[in-house]
Amino acid sequence: TWNNVPLAPEDSIFKLTATYKVDTFPQKVNLGVGAYRDDNSKPWVLPVIKAASQALFNDPNLDHEYLPITGLPEFTSGAARLILGGDSPAIAENRVCSVQTISGTGANHLGALFLSRFYDFNGPKQVYLSDPTWANHFAIFRNVGIDPLTYKYYDPKTIGLACDEFLAALASAPDRSVFLLHACAHNPTGVDPTREQWNQIADAMLQKGHYAFFDCAYQGFASGDLDGDAWAVREFVKRGVPMLVCQSFAKNAGLYSERIGALHVVGSSTEVAKRVRSQLAVLTRSEISNPPAHGARLVALILNNPELFEQWKEDIRTMASRIIEMRKELYRLLTEEFKTPGTWIHIVNQIGMFSFTGLNAEQSQALIDKAHIYLTTNGRISMAGLNTGNIRYFAENLDKVVRG
Ligand code: LMR
Repeated sequence: TWNNVPLAPEDSIFKLTATYKVDTFPQKVNLGVGAYRDDNSKPWVLPVIKAASQALFNDPNLDHEYLPITGLPEFTSGAARLILGGDSPAIAENRVCSVQTISGTGANHLGALFLSRFYDFNGPKQVYLSDPTWANHFAIFRNVGIDPLTYKYYDPKTIGLACDEFLAALASAPDRSVFLLHACAHNPTGVDPTREQWNQIADAMLQKGHYAFFDCAYQGFASGDLDGDAWAVREFVKRGVPMLVCQSFAKNAGLYSERIGALHVVGSSTEVAKRVRSQLAVLTRSEISNPPAHGARLVALILNNPELFEQWKEDIRTMASRIIEMRKELYRLLTEEFKTPGTWIHIVNQIGMFSFTGLNAEQSQALIDKAHIYLTTNGRISMAGLNTGNIRYFAENLDKVVRG
């Protein structure tokens, strides 16, 4: 048996982490996976998570009974307010259906599965993904029988948004197409549309009746401001673009392994939201029965307790501002100290966990092979892997590979 099973390639991002771990070179640097590190290259347990964990530990009433199929209600309602806004008209009109998921990946999967079952595709089942995007998006949609196509998003010449091509793709796609949009801190490029560009995107989506499939894995990471980073999502709700949002708490709460996230489907009425919810419950039941409790309890405490919420916002600012400092310092090193050929302003203009350096595959591979600096070969670096101790080493080696 299984003689015909082909060997699958390892996951490109997690393979980097594994290789980095066994590398014995003292100055090795991991800029691969998007996971926050403090200035000493260590994972950071957010102080608010420590406080919430303590509160859970001291709660005598906690047990390990099943959660409802759609998740912990205090979590899902708080999560909806966080992304859609406390004053969201959709929440007030009771037409948002929120379901707990296995982090952002699970939300993407459940959203894609729901679309595959119930979306009125205008022709074949297809989704438009940004080129480039998080590699896992392709696999997630293929798994549920939706064919991923791409739209032009990034312009290598400007290392910025290819806005005209993006708008042209929206205009030429068949009516009612599904477009996956990164809500903020685009992965892998760190290039986000401006508010004006978002409005143009919303115009085009409304004109064609397209469906917005938002993936929001970095709320708070882009600007340090939870509300600011949710702007596009909220604007789309306000303007009536049909949509859902996938939400992850892996990055902004440092809860990577707890797999806590949510899927929010904005419906046109209470009745629609109720029916959508009933189907999401059926799908969830057949896949995981009910979601895990620990991460949901931690996030629910934070979202529903004003003191913890303030602490969380401070923790998020700590992470976001360290990353912004690293952007500034890298830009300074490249332009002032090493006088590296090329323009590097995109390093400070890009947003969130990642920067798309503009390095090609050979240059990226040279950094791995010659300098023990791990990054994905599309030239993406996780800014969170840089710190005051390793940034000069990185800049120096970046300079070397650029000079060839
Ligand atoms: C990344 O892109 O590095 C993160 O989103 C981690 C992952 O799951 O790939």
